[in-house]
Amino acid sequence: MEKKLILAIETSCDETSAAVIENGQTILSNIVASQIKSHQRFGGVVPEIASRHHVEQITLIIEEALEKADVSYDELDAVAVTEGPGLVGALLIGVNAAKAIAFAHDLPLIAVNHIKGHIFANQLVTPLEFPLLSLVVSGGHTELLYMASEDSYEIVGETRDDAAGEAYDKIGRVLGVPYPGGKHIDQMAHEGKDTYEFPRAMIQDDNFDFSFSGLKSSFINTVHNAKQKNEEINANDLAASFQAAVIDVLVDKTIRAAKEKNVRQLILAGGVAANKGLRTALEKAVSEELTDVELLIPPLELCGDNAAMIGAAAYVQLKNNNYADFSLNGRPGLSV
Ligand code: KG4
Ligand code: ZN
Repeated sequence: MEKKLILAIETSCDETSAAVIENGQTILSNIVASQIKSHQRFGGVVPEIASRHHVEQITLIIEEALEKADVSYDELDAVAVTEGPGLVGALLIGVNAAKAIAFAHDLPLIAVNHIKGHIFANQLVTPLEFPLLSLVVSGGHTELLYMASEDSYEIVGETRDDAAGEAYDKIGRVLGVPYPGGKHIDQMAHEGKDTYEFPRAMIQDDNFDFSFSGLKSSFINTVHNAKQKNEEINANDLAASFQAAVIDVLVDKTIRAAKEKNVRQLILAGGVAANKGLRTALEKAVSEELTDVELLIPPLELCGDNAAMIGAAAYVQLKNNNYADFSLNGRPGLSV
């Protein structure tokens, strides 16, 4: 097989990342500069600050990715970049860097959907096989996507309100853990017990949609009422109970959808795929209920935002000559 090298760039939110990927599956380099510390004191990502950091970092990170991979611009076959969804100002930094490189080195330009990138993070470990179902759970998205082939996406279900990661981050704020709260809540959940009663919204419904805003409100009310009555709260137990409610709905609906769609692989993707409880619960459910299905979960370093996953998704487009032109723009609300 001919060797194809893609330089990939990701700047959709608060990570500036560049990677060099061979044939959509081998990581030659994957540099990720996180801005989390700059946003933490504001309790969330500040778009202006994100754009500013991306501008400062992008050239350095791209040079570092090429250097680490020991690849020169002349050896590249394409440059790929996240076009959306994400923060428009942040996306534009990556898009413009990619356009400049494509123009200067006469390279094809590939525009990649961030969500597809999260799914293809798994391709960097195990070849994807179709049909597959992917549960994409991140700070901005909670979706069940069915893929009949490597270039076809159907939304089977999605959240009607908050994304799972967003709910984690919001209740993290109530418990006073640093932003983003998901990782901290996950740790606390492992120290606590599922003793508080929280709703499992839509779990019985005859569809594959999710809702997390009721759970979030119920959590906030529980903490608020306890404080008003001067009752002690057990933060670890609250975290464990919240996490159990999230996992129950995610796993239940995902397993049901995988059965209905009769898939070969089930994929977990996105930042929340780093959640220890979710990983374990899904592994258990698949081994018990979907014995013919292969479960793919990315290693922790490929769960959060990174450019390697963008390079993996871009390879499909390279094979199909699916290129962008210089009118490419950031598309904050892009869907699959
Ligand atoms: O995919 P990602 O890096 O960015 C988006 O595309 O949104 O996902 C970030 C989200 C945040 O909400 C963060 O709290 C959540 O992933 N997250 C976790 C864990 N690690 C990261 N949520 C639950 N448990 C974790 N261990
Ligand atoms: Zn993401």
